[in-house]
Amino acid sequence: MAKLLITGASGLLGLNLAVEAARAGHAVTGITGRRRVAWPGVDMQSVDLLDAAARAEIWQHARPEWIVHCAALADLDACEKDPARAQAMNADLPGALAAEAAAHGARFIHISTDAVFDGERGDYTEEDAPNPLSVYAQSKLAGEQAVAAANPAASIARVNLFGWSMSGSRSLGEFFVNGLRAGAPLKGFTDVFFCPLLVNDIAGVLFDMLDRDLHGLYHVVSRDSMSKYAFGVRIAELFGHDPAAIAPISVNDAGLAARRSPLLTLKTDKLAAALGRPLPDLPSALARFHALDQQGYPAQLRAAARD
Ligand SMILES: NC(=O)c1ccc[n+]([C@@H]2O[C@H](COP(=O)([O-])OP(=O)(O)OC[C@H]3O[C@@H](n4cnc5c(N)ncnc54)[C@H](OP(=O)(O)O)[C@@H]3O)[C@@H](O)[C@H]2O)c1
Repeated sequence: MAKLLITGASGLLGLNLAVEAARAGHAVTGITGRRRVAWPGVDMQSVDLLDAAARAEIWQHARPEWIVHCAALADLDACEKDPARAQAMNADLPGALAAEAAAHGARFIHISTDAVFDGERGDYTEEDAPNPLSVYAQSKLAGEQAVAAANPAASIARVNLFGWSMSGSRSLGEFFVNGLRAGAPLKGFTDVFFCPLLVNDIAGVLFDMLDRDLHGLYHVVSRDSMSKYAFGVRIAELFGHDPAAIAPISVNDAGLAARRSPLLTLKTDKLAAALGRPLPDLPSALARFHALDQQGYPAQLRAAARD
């Protein structure tokens, strides 16, 4: 058991990490931004992390041994509209927190993204040179560099993820489930490949990384990949809907403001070797996503909102 601080605890990844950490018996402080959240066994605090004085108070209050930094400006289109805020949230803040963690002797994992790659080639290792295409991805790469410079003992976890969120509409998995249930016309990209992990599975991997005191850059994604269209079709099958409700389309025809990367497949060999076990696979993650729904987990998350 550890004293664990999780930022972004109202977000898709951070809230699920807080839930899993509390279940695993850790003493958890969750930092939310504007949204207020309540979850049994988690000390939830609403703090503007860009305020250095407020961060100092949190260090004193929580005295964490481990930190997982999930808070970010993670909306691609919001980053395109406000690059200065993207820089502050995704680059400057991680560097400052990583330095503070080093000063307090706490183990630190910074959450980054597969989108640091341009997705032209695929099968990227941690040794491959990034080439971020969007403002979001550029700011996240700058965040990785700031963390590594401020705290060489920190870990940087490049993730891609899906799962159930407090808003009920944050992840691609929820997009497909909500749309299928509403009978809405849906589209899935046949030419964008990714390897997302279920947020609940990411928790176990990150806590294992902290326990083993791993340092440096790791790909924390599923060990296999799918197109976003195939991902939607599998969800339709699992949730008992007609997969024909999802039309296969090219990302180039979607009219998106921020450029997306087509082949975001990442190798996980480095982390598998460090942990002594393979990363989870996508079919199992999708099955657990469905099982959590059957257990009423999405409604529990929605009920955690206090605004
Ligand atoms: N979602 C994905 O598909 C994906 C893919 C790859 C990587 N990632 C990375 O994974 C991490 C988590 O992403 P996510 O999707 O879980 O994010 P999210 O759902 O958008 O949540 C963002 C979190 O950051 C908090 N936050 C924003 N500004 C803040 C501030 N000034 N002070 C304190 N908290 C602040 C938000 O708090 P409030 O909402 O309460 O204000 C929220 O808890 C990010 O680093 C992201 O880059 C995400």
